[in-house]
Amino acid sequence: MHMNPILKLALVWFILLASVLVSFAELEFGHCERVVKEWADTSSSREEHPPNIDKRSLQDLLFFLHVPRTGGRTYFHCFLRKLYDNAEECPRSYDKLHFDPRKQKCKLLATHDDYSLMSKLPRERTSVMTIVRDPVARVLSTYEFSVEVAARFLVHPNLTSATRMSGRIRKNNVISTLDIWPWKYLVPWMRQDLFARRDARKLKGVVIIEDDNPYDMEEMLMPLHKYLDTPTAHDIIHNGATFQIAGLTNNSRLSEAHEVRHCVQKYRNLGEPVLQVAKRRLDSMLYVGLTEEHRESASLFANVVGSQVLSQLVTSNATAKTKTTKSEASVTVSESGSDKSEIQNGTSDKIEAKSGNMTVKTLMEVYEGCITHLRKSQGTRRVNSLKRISPANFTRGTRARVPNEVIQQIKSLNNLDVELYKYAKEIFVKEHELVSKKMVSTSKRSIVDLQNVFGEMEGEKLWKFVSVALMLLLLFLLYLFVNARRRITSKVKI
Ligand SMILES: *[C@@H]1O[C@H](CO)[C@@H](O)[C@H](O)[C@H]1NC(C)=O
Ligand SMILES: *[C@@H]1O[C@H](CO)[C@@H](O)[C@H](O)[C@H]1NC(C)=O
Ligand SMILES: *[C@@H]1O[C@H](CO)[C@@H](O)[C@H](O)[C@H]1NC(C)=O
Ligand SMILES: *[C@@H]1O[C@H](CO)[C@@H](O)[C@H](O)[C@H]1NC(C)=O
Ligand SMILES: *[C@@H]1O[C@H](CO)[C@@H](O)[C@H](O)[C@H]1NC(C)=O
Ligand SMILES: *[C@@H]1O[C@H](CO)[C@@H](O)[C@H](O)[C@H]1NC(C)=O
Repeated sequence: MHMNPILKLALVWFILLASVLVSFAELEFGHCERVVKEWADTSSSREEHPPNIDKRSLQDLLFFLHVPRTGGRTYFHCFLRKLYDNAEECPRSYDKLHFDPRKQKCKLLATHDDYSLMSKLPRERTSVMTIVRDPVARVLSTYEFSVEVAARFLVHPNLTSATRMSGRIRKNNVISTLDIWPWKYLVPWMRQDLFARRDARKLKGVVIIEDDNPYDMEEMLMPLHKYLDTPTAHDIIHNGATFQIAGLTNNSRLSEAHEVRHCVQKYRNLGEPVLQVAKRRLDSMLYVGLTEEHRESASLFANVVGSQVLSQLVTSNATAKTKTTKSEASVTVSESGSDKSEIQNGTSDKIEAKSGNMTVKTLMEVYEGCITHLRKSQGTRRVNSLKRISPANFTRGTRARVPNEVIQQIKSLNNLDVELYKYAKEIFVKEHELVSKKMVSTSKRSIVDLQNVFGEMEGEKLWKFVSVALMLLLLFLLYLFVNARRRITSKVKI
């Protein structure tokens, strides 16, 4: 068979080019493999020399690594704020750290910042806690919340005016959601999208929305399946818990973090070392809660963390500190750009904690009351914001309308988080058992105390005491029995 010489040449070139491309790809993979491995090695060597401290004992600084949409807000408002003074809270960190942890003597740092923040903290004097959530629920909640906050801006006639308004709010002593990673990316993005869709509807005139599935309502908001596949979602949302605990988010202060993250996103099988680092960190944390196991997580928190903060209070004799509780001018965190209402309640509870009068039990009671209040106000806010994109509405029931393929898509895009969540559940079961055992052993101790009371009598006397008591009981029962018989017979007589 003859071949056109030009064609032959082209074929040779083609093969050459293909092999060059292949080897480039191999080079890039090799490079990524090295980058990820180096990062994993340094992260583990940094943590390997164990500081010989019990991970369960609360250190001077509590770092609450708050993964967005895991319910951390209720922990912050209803537990931590009841346990710590405003003065004890470190200056809030939203995207960058605004204080020097070595100089500032603060005890509580709650932030959406990732684990790379630890490089700035006194590692051996810091305890870390976090809450982990089922990745599907976390992603759906992220979608809903970014839409909810963005929809609040629809009170404005146009995007320009909405943007200008949020800029003005930021100047006051109020921190808006728009300053806080990851919302500072997700909300303006959704806001722009909502305004564009509203403008398009206005142009068209009448728009009839037939399907009432809020996750797929193109005329009103970006459908969920499209949202999931945007560069922003890949940057920020998918595997967000693993990246945050590994210290590899888009907001990381580690310079190599971005390259490592990109490599892991490009080559799925490089995710394993990242997962291992995240698991090891969960292992070393003071507390790991689960959003799904809400009541049990809260009780575990109260018993593991709350009890230690309370006992520190007693020993540190906090009477002098009570004065600062109220006077401290606190920065208000506003959830939206358009209204400033915020729950600033519970100062009296804090004073109670400070006077050393709060126990784990009262802490739980305060918490229960507080979350009811918080949930109610969050629910009202949600209904009010979503009104602006009606008929789209997210309620408890609507999540069932997310098609199964989309759920599978979320699971696949969050493969590391799926594994990490499984692992967090194992940790939770273990810790829960441990604490329950401890609680049983303390209640055993009170039985022992009771025995000690009897123990003051001699064994022989005790036996006499018990047998006399039993005799009396028998006599009493006999009396009741005879009495009852007598009544029956007297009835028969009549
Ligand atoms: C946006 O709304 C403001 C306030 O109503 C108005 O002054 C401004 O002209 C509007 N801008 C555009 C581009 O429509
Ligand atoms: C983080 O993600 C946002 C949204 O995709 C992007 O605008 C920003 O540039 C990213 N930052 C880094 C450091 O990659
Ligand atoms: C604790 O407070 C009491 C009275 O308020 C005081 O007498 C005592 O010295 C304090 N103890 C310590 C260790 O500060
Ligand atoms: C604080 O709580 C009380 C009841 O516990 C309630 O009446 C009041 O409105 C709350 N204040 C704010 C600002 O939420
Ligand atoms: C502790 O609480 C009890 C009742 O709740 C109260 O009578 C007592 O005065 C409180 N003690 C202090 C030191 O506040
Ligand atoms: C959205 O759902 C909530 C809860 O079912 C309901 O109270 C609210 O009125 C709904 N909003 C709209 C605009 O239909």
